[in-house]
Amino acid sequence: MAILRVTKYGEDILRQKLKPVNYADIAPVLPKLLADMEETCMAKNGVGLSANQVGLDYRLAIILLPNSKNENAKPTRYVIINPVILSKRGEATEEEGCLSVPGLWADVTRATDITVRYTDENGEEQVKRMRGLLAKAFQHELDHLDGKIFVDLVDPKLKPEVKKLIKKLRPQWD
Ligand code: CO
Repeated sequence: MAILRVTKYGEDILRQKLKPVNYADIAPVLPKLLADMEETCMAKNGVGLSANQVGLDYRLAIILLPNSKNENAKPTRYVIINPVILSKRGEATEEEGCLSVPGLWADVTRATDITVRYTDENGEEQVKRMRGLLAKAFQHELDHLDGKIFVDLVDPKLKPEVKKLIKKLRPQWD
């Protein structure tokens, strides 16, 4: 396993709409890629990581959902390949961060209850209802696959402040 470099805000690949994955094509490289993405995400205390955050043009991401009853327990890993949102309900505004914009936290409004479809790490199609942090993370990661970053969703009135903060943080990024 290896800790990969995470691409940062301002790099082109984070603005790319990523290519749909043909599961059979990537199956041979998937176990190592997922292990590396998981290790990278864990090392940086992230909840999710998309392929373009490690420099790859694949429509796939991982979510590492913390165990709400025991923070020392291993998180549950979701591998979402070619994900889509079938329906959305509810709305909540909550603070979000992103490993590609380290040091920045900002309020973002998202659906609280979603029904989704994706291919899992075994190539099986899944349809699931997600709520809470899992729903939030799924939307955040799907945005990455479409070339969007959470700061795009910040209240327009706060955007000048966000830009200023990013400029201040950028010299500390690897
Ligand atoms: Co992110």
